[in-house]
Amino acid sequence: MKNFLYIVFIILILLQFIPTKVENPKTDKNLEIKVSSELSTIFKRSCYDCHSNEVKLPWYNSIAPASFYIQRHVNLGRQWLNFSTWENYTEEEKDKKLKGIFRTVYAAMPLASYVSLHKEAKLTKEEIKLIRDWTGKAPF
Ligand code: HEC
Repeated sequence: MKNFLYIVFIILILLQFIPTKVENPKTDKNLEIKVSSELSTIFKRSCYDCHSNEVKLPWYNSIAPASFYIQRHVNLGRQWLNFSTWENYTEEEKDKKLKGIFRTVYAAMPLASYVSLHKEAKLTKEEIKLIRDWTGKAPF
């Protein structure tokens, strides 16, 4: 048991040497999604840490393995949907993303692991309704 703990400890130390990097690329403000200030506040609070170029990194971002998760969430999150570069999407892409937002805000987004560490990110029923009404989409 003692040896096992030593090994876990050493692995954790070694993991710290694997570099990760999450950067916020400078982005033209005109490309950002244009929504009411109410919606903008909700998105900034609950989505921007993975779906924008204005990611706020927590203190544990420099500690592996948390850093790996954060890097993965931000990379994947931006690939799927980036509110900071919304205007770069074609009308067709926007339409798809709005449908995706309609579908995911009900339960899947923000990610549960994120909400467990950022309680304030959880969407209320009213906020979910507000977002869904704004998308103007039915789910399928
Ligand atoms: C902790 C990071 C994180 C947060 C916060 C977050 N997302 Fe995501 N989101 C992801 C990741 C990662 C994916 C990629 C798909 C996956 O791995 O499940 C994703 C995928 C998506 C997709 C595409 C999924 C699909 O099937 O079309 C939409 C739409 C989406 N998120 C909307 C939102 C909205 C809206 C919010 C805020 C209410 C939000 N997300 C908050 C990480 C996040």
